[in-house]
Amino acid sequence: MKNVKTINFRNIGDESGYLTPIEAERDIPFGIKRVYYITGVRSGERRGFHSHRDLHQLLICVSGSVKILVKTPFEEKIIILDKPYEGLYIGPMIWREMFDFSEGSALVVLASEHYSEDDYIRDYPQYEKEAREYWSKRS
Ligand code: TYD
Repeated sequence: MKNVKTINFRNIGDESGYLTPIEAERDIPFGIKRVYYITGVRSGERRGFHSHRDLHQLLICVSGSVKILVKTPFEEKIIILDKPYEGLYIGPMIWREMFDFSEGSALVVLASEHYSEDDYIRDYPQYEKEAREYWSKRS
């Protein structure tokens, strides 16, 4: 799927535990301007329901598991994140929903830009309209 890919990071580990390094522009295809994390999500809650116009993001479930639905007007798939050394890159113009957060899970997100509500598309029909235009220039 275009603008979506899973990335496996190094998992440096021994009997003392594990360490996963992620370097901007080396391990992921963008520079990092913002980090946020989602914790304490109750079972049955679903989040996301939006696309970004220009933002690049990398999602890592550092503890527990979560499912991510990624969708365009043409295709969709569900990716399970359940390893702290596996990231999901989501580029521009991808609709996403996050669900089935396990108890105590922590989803860390690295983002290419500072927070801007103007970059969000939260209305699905509006997303479809903009996405068809965006993808028609790139197919
Ligand atoms: P939102 O991106 O809608 O969360 P989700 O996609 O996980 O459902 O953000 C939820 C709220 O947090 C919204 O009011 C905007 C705010 N927010 C920030 O202030 N800064 C941020 O970096 C992010 C991602 C959200």
